[in-house]
Amino acid sequence: MPLAMIQDELMPLEAVPIPFRDRAMYFGDGVYEVIRSYKGHIFALEDHLMRFANSLEAVDIRGITVETVRQRVLTAFDQAGIGNAKIYFHVTRGSGPRDPVEAPGLAPNFYLTITELEDATLEKTQGISVITHPDLRWKRCDIKSLNLLPNVLAKREAHKQGCDEAILVDDQGLITEGSASAFFAICGDSSAQGDWPGLCLRTTALHVNILPSVTRKYVIKSAQAIGLTVVERSVAVPEAKAAQELFLAVTTRDIVPIVKFDGQSIGQGKPGKATQALMQAFQQCIDED
Ligand SMILES: Cc1ncc(COP(=O)(O)O)c(C=O)c1O
Repeated sequence: MPLAMIQDELMPLEAVPIPFRDRAMYFGDGVYEVIRSYKGHIFALEDHLMRFANSLEAVDIRGITVETVRQRVLTAFDQAGIGNAKIYFHVTRGSGPRDPVEAPGLAPNFYLTITELEDATLEKTQGISVITHPDLRWKRCDIKSLNLLPNVLAKREAHKQGCDEAILVDDQGLITEGSASAFFAICGDSSAQGDWPGLCLRTTALHVNILPSVTRKYVIKSAQAIGLTVVERSVAVPEAKAAQELFLAVTTRDIVPIVKFDGQSIGQGKPGKATQALMQAFQQCIDED
């Protein structure tokens, strides 16, 4: 059943009290993770815990160890008994007065939910539409921080326009990532050899301007497995429009083909061959985890 955990106390999701004094309410002062399981097995747990440890360290939240987080995740996952689960958790700097500088020794707050995760079958088979949107976020998007207002506003705008995701574009006209996903293009590349000659997988290089997506890591591994050349270089908007294929990747949905980009059809207007091959190879990563 859907469960929540506050510190180390488990409860039904509906029984969660409202935390008005949490610093996440005032300042978004905390960091979070989203993990998933397939058929009772948590995928890439260590990758997510490592990223979480990096986020905690980057914002200097102390007083909770990753080992404690791991144990709480495993306990809650075990209790919920949900095979295909979405596991959300965050740690905030704690609760107190609305003062940017916290009281000495403030204890962090831990919060977790586990809910059923439906497979994104329709989106995966038919593909989705996206819009571009200015990337209005701060300069440390590598931290998985609870400050998500620019992401929320971009995603809301996409939904208003009948689209699934907003693809964020920086001041140079280069795509960084989706508002809640990593972004990929299959582009023509005359120097590319291997099993997909003339084609490469392009994605933004890991830097402070994007989240080090866990799914991205396994997409790159999948590309290597199918012999597709990987180029970690940002895609400009006109390049995305001219790409053979586009897709996004995120923990909760794996790989999702993009068939419409700012109203323009991509490739044949349906999920392309390279994307489908990557989806299959990605499944292999899941099976081997
Ligand atoms: C901004 C952003 N980029 C990328 C991702 C994908 O990250 P992951 O593959 O670890 O889920 C997310 C996930 O929520 C995200 O919010």
